[in-house]
This record gives sequence, C-alpha cells and structure tokens, in this order.
Amino acid sequence: MRVLVTGAQGCIGAWVVRGLLARGLDVLIYDLIPEAARLDLITDPTARRNLRVTTGAIEDSATVKGLIKDEGITHVCHLAAVLMPFCQANPIQGGLINVIGTLNVFEGARDAGRDVRITYASSSAVWGPEDAYLAHTLSENEPTKPATHYGVFKAANEGNARIFYATNGISSIGLRPWTVYGVGRDFGLTASPTIAMKNLVLGKDYQIPLGGFMDLQYVEDVAESFIRCLLAPVQGAHVFNLAGDVIHMDELVNTLRSLRPNATAQISAAGPQVPVAYRMDDSALRAAVPDIPKTPLDQGLRATLELYEKLHAEGRLA
Ligand SMILES: NC(=O)c1ccc[n+]([C@@H]2O[C@H](COP(=O)([O-])OP(=O)(O)OC[C@H]3O[C@@H](n4cnc5c(N)ncnc54)[C@H](O)[C@@H]3O)[C@@H](O)[C@H]2O)c1
Repeated sequence: MRVLVTGAQGCIGAWVVRGLLARGLDVLIYDLIPEAARLDLITDPTARRNLRVTTGAIEDSATVKGLIKDEGITHVCHLAAVLMPFCQANPIQGGLINVIGTLNVFEGARDAGRDVRITYASSSAVWGPEDAYLAHTLSENEPTKPATHYGVFKAANEGNARIFYATNGISSIGLRPWTVYGVGRDFGLTASPTIAMKNLVLGKDYQIPLGGFMDLQYVEDVAESFIRCLLAPVQGAHVFNLAGDVIHMDELVNTLRSLRPNATAQISAAGPQVPVAYRMDDSALRAAVPDIPKTPLDQGLRATLELYEKLHAEGRLA
C-alpha cells in the first residue's frame, strides 16, 4: 500500500500526512511548494522516515499520472486546490487547478494498471446561501446551488467522480468540509477564526472580517475523516457532508474571551455572512464509514490555543 497526498503542504494536508505517518504508512506527497512549514508545526522531523516529497503542479497531467503509475500508488488523498477568493478572481486558473487537476488524479487512477482508491476534498461551497434552502438541514439528496466559481468547480469534481466510477469502476469518496480550524489554517476566506486564535496568543488585536454563522470543524478530525474514508473498503462514488459545530461569529468571540479571560488582545467580528448554507446533516458519512471523529468545539478551540501557546513559548509562532 502506498499513499499519494496532493496538496500535502496545506493545512488539511499536513494533518493528513501526520495521521498517515502515525499509522506507519508509506506516503508520497505532491504539492506546488516544497516547504513543510505546516508539517513542521505539528510533527517531529524524525517521524518522517516513510515520507517522500515531490513538487509540481496538479494541473500537469503527465507528471501527476506518471507519479500514480510509476510510484506504485494504491491510494490517493487529493487535497491540492486553490480556495474561494482565488477562484472568484481567476476562474480560468482556478478551473485548471481545481477541475483539471482533479481529472488528472482520476485519469491517473484509471491508467495505473492497479486498483487505486481516491478520497478528495469537495466542499460545502457546493451549497448555495442559506436562504436558497429555506434554512433547513441539508442531506446529500438536496440539489447543489453553488454561488461561487469555487463551488461550481467542486460540484463538477463530484460529477466527474461519479462518471469515473460508472465508466471505469474507480471508487472514491468526496468530503464536503465547511470551515476547518486549527494550527496550520492560515489561508482562505474562512481562515479568520484560526487567525483570531493565533493573534489572541500573540497578544495582537484582530477583527474576524466575517459575520453570521459558520460550521467550525477541528482540523485533526477533518484529516482523520479523510484518512478513514481513504482506508474504508467502500465501493462506489460517494459524496458526503462533513458537519462540525455551527456557531455565530459573535458567540465565537465570546467563547474565545471566556477561554482566555486574561488575554490582552481584543478579538472582534464584523462583516458579511459567507454565502454558503451551514446546516448540514452528515449522518450518511457516519453510517458508511466507522469512527468518524467529532471533537466538541470548546475542546478543539482549547487544543488549538494550547498548541499555539506551546509554539509561541518555543519562539516558533511567526
Ligand atoms: N480549509 C477549509 O475550511 C476547507 C473547506 C472545504 C474544502 N476544503 C478543501 O480542502 C482542500 C485542502 O484545503 P486546505 O485548507 O488545506 O487548503 P490550503 O490552501 O492550506 O492547501 C492547499 C494546498 O494545495 C497546494 N496547491 C495549490 N495549488 C496547487 C497546484 N496548482 N498544484 C499543486 N498543489 C497546489 C498549495 O500549495 C497548498 O499546499 C482543498 O481542496 C480545499 O478546497 C477546505
């Protein structure tokens, strides 16, 4: 068994790599960037004996397909992507990376000459804004109504995964996270709750530039969910919601204040609601794949603050 993780130097990717290495698995990573800055925050370099690092663009079909075929890959956790603001500003480049890049992974699995299972990151951005659904809880049976290019690209990937199973028998699971938080989450529209925690630890004032509700999901749980889906012997092309804890940004600010009552930094929130429905039912995932973890929000926030405090004390929090 050999696992390829694309986008492994990103936030979720670093935690996925950490979880795979902790299981003693043989891991190859592929990312545009070689720097393991996020992995450095959460793993010891001595834990990386079974890790090989390669760099390149996910939209480079020949390289991605060659890696899967020639490196004996049996499992792919596909996370490489550009996030919502980038796709909104650069739809062509966003489509190349997010859609063509995902097609490369599936074609690579098709042409590998062995069974290759795929777990990939879709997103809750396939949902439209809350009022497009009369504010009810969404199961996977609801029609997707993405309001951004990013969401349209993710919906396209889900459709292509379905066709690759129907045509080529490639089994896959796409997960739809909402807002992932935790150490390493420093990029993207919804990184601000984590940036607020980092600033709280650094003693710097910070305003979360968003208002309304988010579904917050602890990064270690999200990574573990990807790994469990990757290792589960589930046949077919599945897409699952991933649900955490829905919280209003004002309540998040109050919770952070109560967790660190002596902090000097002023944390606040003001701005628009992210245009993505936030009430998701993930019971289908929990029924299909055993032991999907869910850390209560206060515990995940505490764990994140404590890890930031440790890194700060060691002079490693830039
Ligand atoms: N973070 C969230 O809240 C969230 C929510 C829903 C879905 N997702 C999805 O989860 C996945 C991982 O998200 P993340 O938060 O870790 O993002 P991230 O930005 O931290 O990581 C993405 C990684 O992909 C790499 N990458 C970007 N363009 C590339 C390219 N052209 N070729 C190769 N690698 C490239 C980046 O270098 C980065 O390491 C993405 O597919 C994202 O759309 C994330």
